[in-house]
Amino acid sequence: MNRLGLRAKLLIAMFLILGVSIGLVAGQAVLLFQQDKSSYVFDLNASQAIKIADEIQANVRHLTEKMRIFADAARLQPPPGSDLKTVLGAMLQQYPEFLLFSVRGEDGSLRNVFTSPALETIGLSKETVHAAYTGGGVPFDSLPQERPFIARLGLAAKMPTFTLAVRGAAGPDGRPGAVLVAEIPLDRLYASRAVSRLFEVYVTDGGGKPIVAFTGRPAAGPGGATAPGGTEAPGGATLGFADLLPKSATMAGTREYVASGTAMLAAYSPVGSLGLWAIVQIPKARAFEAAHRLVVRSLAIAGVVCAAAVALVFVFASSITRSLVGLTRATEQIGRGQFDIQVPVTVGARFKRMTEELAARETALKEANKRLIEAEKMTALGQLGAGIAHEVKNPMTSIRGYAQMGLRKVPPDSPLREYFVTIEKETGRSLEILKNLLKFSRQETAEMSLIDLNAVVSDTVKLVMHQLSMRKVDVVPDLSEEPIQVVGNANQIEQVVLNLMMNAGDAMEKGGRITVGTDEVGGQARIRVADTGSGIPPDVIGRIFDPFFTTKPVGKGTGLGLSVSYGIVKEHKGEITVQSKVGAGTTFTILIPVTKTAPKAAPQAAAGGEKRVRVINLR
Ligand SMILES: Nc1ncnc2c1ncn2[C@@H]1O[C@H](COP(=O)(O)OP(=O)(O)OP(=O)(O)O)[C@@H](O)[C@H]1O
Ligand SMILES: [Mg+2]
Repeated sequence: MNRLGLRAKLLIAMFLILGVSIGLVAGQAVLLFQQDKSSYVFDLNASQAIKIADEIQANVRHLTEKMRIFADAARLQPPPGSDLKTVLGAMLQQYPEFLLFSVRGEDGSLRNVFTSPALETIGLSKETVHAAYTGGGVPFDSLPQERPFIARLGLAAKMPTFTLAVRGAAGPDGRPGAVLVAEIPLDRLYASRAVSRLFEVYVTDGGGKPIVAFTGRPAAGPGGATAPGGTEAPGGATLGFADLLPKSATMAGTREYVASGTAMLAAYSPVGSLGLWAIVQIPKARAFEAAHRLVVRSLAIAGVVCAAAVALVFVFASSITRSLVGLTRATEQIGRGQFDIQVPVTVGARFKRMTEELAARETALKEANKRLIEAEKMTALGQLGAGIAHEVKNPMTSIRGYAQMGLRKVPPDSPLREYFVTIEKETGRSLEILKNLLKFSRQETAEMSLIDLNAVVSDTVKLVMHQLSMRKVDVVPDLSEEPIQVVGNANQIEQVVLNLMMNAGDAMEKGGRITVGTDEVGGQARIRVADTGSGIPPDVIGRIFDPFFTTKPVGKGTGLGLSVSYGIVKEHKGEITVQSKVGAGTTFTILIPVTKTAPKAAPQAAAGGEKRVRVINLR
């Protein structure tokens, strides 16, 4: 298993979970079906019958609600200028489901018969209707107000209809309300085709006499009541619906019986309190066959769902693992020190975040690596420089000593005097460079004490302000009003500020402005030296802190100013950074941690008591 790739493992795991769960569900369904086929089929039949009964009940409720309103309207005095006939005629036109209205008023006579154009087209005369209704077809006298009467009187020859009679509200004098009878197309009672064609569907009255019949086959079986619409009711020679239905119970049920040698299964359900029954029947063998087919189909669907799920899982797993593999590879590459990599961003927000984080780490690592290289370079150069400086310093001091001796010995007018002066001057300059070099390599450790950085910077600014103003350079102090305490060496800080100000002055040949600022940000003391000079080109800026890097002509700059400053700032546990724009100017920023207490080992120097030697070499 360990040898398998991540993708394979994911796939197997998902397949197992899916396969097992779908298999369990499908297996259980099959098992249940096998164990209890009959009750499954019985239940299926019964649920169909109940469904049909519910639908019929809803249809009838709908129709009777409207008819009750019409019945009440028929009892009331019609609006002036119109008679009852006009009112009901308008209603017939508005509600095409009613083919005919007949009203028996409170006085007991069947007064009005209205025909709609639809009724005319199916060829039914008022007289036929009148005769059918009054001849015992509609129980006008016994019709209760709360329950409608439904029957199939078989009036229309062309279009099957059923008769619905409703009693309106009782009059104020207690007399029973008007009875409104309507002839309605049969498909308004039950028209659903949602039930499978395998079933025969009937709606019968309480006595089992069919009102509606949907059979997918020609008339069969003698003996049963004749179903309307030319179809014969099922039940065969031995059983009619009247025998099939329970005598008293009003609950749905299922029964088995044999009709014309065929084993049948019938389910019945009462239609609310309408006194109707919904009956669904099917040959038993077909029912089992259908149920069997249903199970097979369910299993096939389960299989297809399973296959689709596996395909989806495959696609999903592939994309996840591709990202993971990409991320792993990137991590490995970073681990090997290869930072120039592109992490692929493929799936989802979570991976995006992971890759973004990785990319951010990668950038931070790159940065740290660059700084490390820089520090190592500085250290190496410093050590090298220190070694050379040590070796050269002594002979150089001797040379200068001899030159000074020579100067004293030669007569004032000797041509040799000039040579000695040059030797003395140049060795002096060289010794100055060596001293700087030694400082940079931190061979000379400075004494640290609690100092007011603000005061040191302020003193330094005052020191050079005048000289710089001679070169048309304005110095603008922007100093903090509060003292800023740091642990440091005042001479060294002064040297750094001087270096920066000198460089700024050098960058402004035609004059300009130097702003020197101090403040405290986030527990750090900040010194800023900004100029309006030439700026530092991008290809140069990365090298300005390197020892001996200079763009100034030979003899003018040694290229040690910034490298020494860098070393000093580091010694103060600080950071020095530069921002520059060619033609606009340069800003150096130094950050040194603020300290409120004196360092343990170092004796605290009195701010004014310290003697500082300032050597300013303005060129
Ligand atoms: N404010 C500035 N504006 C423009 N360029 C600058 C600025 N500060 C430093 N530089 C560039 O950085 C280089 C290195 O500066 P650094 O102070 O180390 O040496 P230097 O000034 O050339 O010589 P020195 O040893 O006399 O200071 C300079 O030669 C100059 O090109
Ligand atoms: Mg310099």
